[in-house]
Amino acid sequence: MRYSEDLIEEIRMKNDIVDVISGYVKLQRKGSSYFGLCPFHNEKSPSFSVSPGKQMYYCFGCGAGGNVLSFIMEYENFSFPEALKFLADRAGVELPKLEYSREAKEQADRKALLLTINKEAAKYFYYQLYTEKGQRALEYLKGRQLSPETMKKFGLGYSDKFSNDLYRYLKNKGYGDEVLMESGLFNADEKHGMYDKFWNRVIFPIMDVNNRVIGFGGRVMGDGKPKYLNSPETKIFDKSRNLYGLNLARTSRAKNLIICEGYMDVISMHQAGFTNAVASLGTALTSQQASLMKRYTSQVLIMYDSDEAGTKAALRAIPLLKAAGLSTKVIDLHPCKDPDEFIKTYGAEKFAERLEKGMNSFLFEAKSLEMNYDLSDPQGRTDFFHQLAGRLASFEDEIERANYIDAIARRYQTDPAALKKLVGRLALKGAGVRETAKPKSGVNREKQNGYDISQKLMLTWLVNEPGIFAGIEGLISPQDFTTPLYHQVAEMLFAQHREGEVNPARILNYFQDGEEQKQVAAVFHTMLPLQTAEEKAQAFRDVVCRLKESSIGWQSDHLAPTDMAGLMKLMEDKKALESLQRGDTPLHISFE
Ligand code: CTP
Ligand code: MN
Repeated sequence: MRYSEDLIEEIRMKNDIVDVISGYVKLQRKGSSYFGLCPFHNEKSPSFSVSPGKQMYYCFGCGAGGNVLSFIMEYENFSFPEALKFLADRAGVELPKLEYSREAKEQADRKALLLTINKEAAKYFYYQLYTEKGQRALEYLKGRQLSPETMKKFGLGYSDKFSNDLYRYLKNKGYGDEVLMESGLFNADEKHGMYDKFWNRVIFPIMDVNNRVIGFGGRVMGDGKPKYLNSPETKIFDKSRNLYGLNLARTSRAKNLIICEGYMDVISMHQAGFTNAVASLGTALTSQQASLMKRYTSQVLIMYDSDEAGTKAALRAIPLLKAAGLSTKVIDLHPCKDPDEFIKTYGAEKFAERLEKGMNSFLFEAKSLEMNYDLSDPQGRTDFFHQLAGRLASFEDEIERANYIDAIARRYQTDPAALKKLVGRLALKGAGVRETAKPKSGVNREKQNGYDISQKLMLTWLVNEPGIFAGIEGLISPQDFTTPLYHQVAEMLFAQHREGEVNPARILNYFQDGEEQKQVAAVFHTMLPLQTAEEKAQAFRDVVCRLKESSIGWQSDHLAPTDMAGLMKLMEDKKALESLQRGDTPLHISFE
């Protein structure tokens, strides 16, 4: 179910964009706009502008732009409904409850109850850490060089030695045995009844992206076994769909995410300033976790332990991440075994250098494959190249494939032409001949580009100078905008004009997909660097002519041969255009 357009607009209007963004970015007034340092890319001089009149923002440096909803989506990494909820709360607007079936409602209530129990438990563990009983645990964490702030940030806690504390605590709060059992925090047997699962351990609460506690990990303080104990899967804890640390990493400004193995790795990296680290917690990475990461980034650095298990895990993770559309690099931590140890031994600066030296994931795969072959033996070498060629054959992009063939040939000193031939043969045999997309002819593409630009410019004019609607009446209509996105925007703008108010920020409510939103925001924000009224009039006439010319060209290409009415209209349009181009028809628009 979706919220109504009016409600979305109400929430947008009740959140003044300058107010909201001022909470995140220091803004300074310059003329009719505000400027500040763009929060979406690194910069030293402000190119991020916020327009109170239009209720939109735009960065001239990186092209980020949109209305207050898109800002919250992009800054907080929220989905559209999440951003809407956030701004509704901020403005004190109540969102209507979505309708649930009775069964779904019961499920939702149960989950809410389990979340509350987890929250209570997390608070209880947290509190214990700072009592006398928790002193050893606190010492243990300090011994691992965690600062008090870090411990707080991750909500670390302690479950004490006296079994049943938590059970009694929660019973006293009124929770029943059945739901407590379902929380995964307790074990039960005939002799003892119910008792705490975590016992004399340091506790790591596990949060989902919305900062809700969904489970726990507990570590022995020392060498006991098992080293870690984790909550079992429950109605609210699906290990394959969550990543430890993502609740914090998702607002990191880094260009990628780092995936590592464990709790302590994530925590040390965050403490050292690498707040983009997450972990899959002892289980192999899943495709759901890969798509989860895709929501926040397009590149993942794999940083698994530098042992055989870590290498194997990396080899399994690479294709999963690729399939989710993520590019990947593998970070080598030798001579250390994991990021935690590396940071402790060499410090954050050296660590940052390693991050820059990530190995291309295909070359990493090749390197790992090496171990299985004796490369000094001709047969071993042949088999090795056949293996690699098979992998190379599965690259769909030809340029990419060619680049990798070159890289591999160079690295392993073999003849690139021979390798290329082998790859080609295997590609034909394996995946069958893929039909390559017909390349668009260069001329056509250029023509389309020019047309796109005229459409975009015209929209910019319409937004910036609403007075011109009157002057183009009968000449330009939404039909002249044929690129689907621009057509949609034009339809809405013309409709708004008919209804008496041009409101670009409202139009943006409709574009909830990030890429589209950016494109539309860019239309609304392109500056027209024109000063005098003559300059404006001249430039505008130019845009009208070019748009009309492209539009006529497009219509005549797409006209059905039997459409007589369409043909007549085209002839008229052509005449009007010619007269405009000769300067016979004045455009009745006054620019100040
Ligand atoms: N793990 C687990 N159960 C175990 C061992 C490990 O669930 N018995 C999971 C934990 O999530 C752990 C991760 O696997 O964080 C990586 O394991 P390991 O490398 O052994 O632990 P570290 O994170 O390095 O922990 P520490 O530094 O405390 O030894
Ligand atoms: Mn480890």
